[in-house]
Amino acid sequence: MTRRSIGIIVNGVTGRMGYRQHLVRSLLAIRESGGVPVADGTTIWPEPILVGRTETKLRDLAARHGLTDWTTDLASALARDDVEIYFDAQVTQQREKAIRQAIEAGKHIYTEKPLAEDTAAALDLARAADAAGVRTGVVQDKLFLPGLRKLKRLVDGGFFGRILSVRGEFGYWVFEGDWQPAQRPSWNYRAEDGGGITSDMFPHWHYVLEELFGRVAAVTCVTATHVPERVDEAGRAYQATADDAAYAVFELDGGIIAQINSSWGVRVYRDELVEFQVDGTEGSAVAGLRTCRVQHRAVTPKPVWNPDLPATEDFRAQWAEVPDNEEFDNGFKAQWEAYLRHVVAGEPFRWDFRAGARGVQLAELGLRSAREGRRVEVPELRR
Ligand SMILES: NC(=O)c1ccc[n+]([C@@H]2O[C@H](COP(=O)([O-])OP(=O)(O)OC[C@H]3O[C@@H](n4cnc5c(N)ncnc54)[C@H](O)[C@@H]3O)[C@@H](O)[C@H]2O)c1
Repeated sequence: MTRRSIGIIVNGVTGRMGYRQHLVRSLLAIRESGGVPVADGTTIWPEPILVGRTETKLRDLAARHGLTDWTTDLASALARDDVEIYFDAQVTQQREKAIRQAIEAGKHIYTEKPLAEDTAAALDLARAADAAGVRTGVVQDKLFLPGLRKLKRLVDGGFFGRILSVRGEFGYWVFEGDWQPAQRPSWNYRAEDGGGITSDMFPHWHYVLEELFGRVAAVTCVTATHVPERVDEAGRAYQATADDAAYAVFELDGGIIAQINSSWGVRVYRDELVEFQVDGTEGSAVAGLRTCRVQHRAVTPKPVWNPDLPATEDFRAQWAEVPDNEEFDNGFKAQWEAYLRHVVAGEPFRWDFRAGARGVQLAELGLRSAREGRRVEVPELRR
């Protein structure tokens, strides 16, 4: 068996996503499981090069995992011949500039979402990457989660008949930061720093809707900043200038109506932090990150509206659990493996910069809908 080492810059590795999901649970987990096998018998072996702004943080983090390759100098890392992939998990605002540098250095590029801050920039990156002949990818982790994989299996197997509607509920209470520290970084709540729940979550909703149900043709959205003042990591109060909730209706090709609420100002009375209910003529499903439950038309109860009597049925108990039928790995790791096979072995990978640009476009049009108080059509992005 031949081992094929591949140098991967991990920029933003000190951040929540860069560290936990991408370094520890993906790249190091891949090494722990022996690398990524490809069809010709080769095994892809990721060699992470940690890049960030603060020497001490990088040194500590590297030491914690027995790694030695780290730098605060992105340009020098990009100049190395043994580096083939640039990965970006920095704050969104820093992404475009760094990706441009990586394209100029001829590296393949994988990145967290959103690809850029606006559609024009995202498309421009896609064009530049195509012109440079580099292979691109954007994180679309939710597609690789067990709950959504099972939901996709139901769609592909024709379980629903004609799909009528999708209702998504995402969110949890993000602490304000005064009497309990906030569990998300403060830049998320400042528009001037690239924050906002619409630009954060609509790229996710875009690929979930597009991959499972159909192209998003129009969006109607209302946004809010429910918590106007928060306290940052240093204990300083600041104005929350970005939206912390988005209430949206997406019209899909084929007539499916999808409604998705996204909020960092709700308390969870659900089984999971995000849940999608899909109703079709033949059956319905409720999928979360891990589980998926179904009810077929043949076993659908016939409730009668009568508020004078207490509910006589346990509605939740009438749903059946969809079995795993396979082993599900961490979603981020699964997508990393697919991207590495794409770069090394040319295997197909459709979650590229153009897919990422469509996600950015939906966020931009959602915000426009909210700003202008109207329904906005989503044009197909030209190549
Ligand atoms: N796929 C997902 O589910 C998911 C979830 C959360 C966040 N994200 C995305 O991941 C990216 C990082 O988010 P995070 O939650 O890890 O953020 P974070 O604040 O925890 O980390 C940000 C990283 O960027 C670095 N950085 C570089 N330049 C910076 C600057 N000028 N100011 C501040 N930090 C700077 C920081 O050092 C840090 O390593 C964002 O683009 C976000 O949209 C994706």
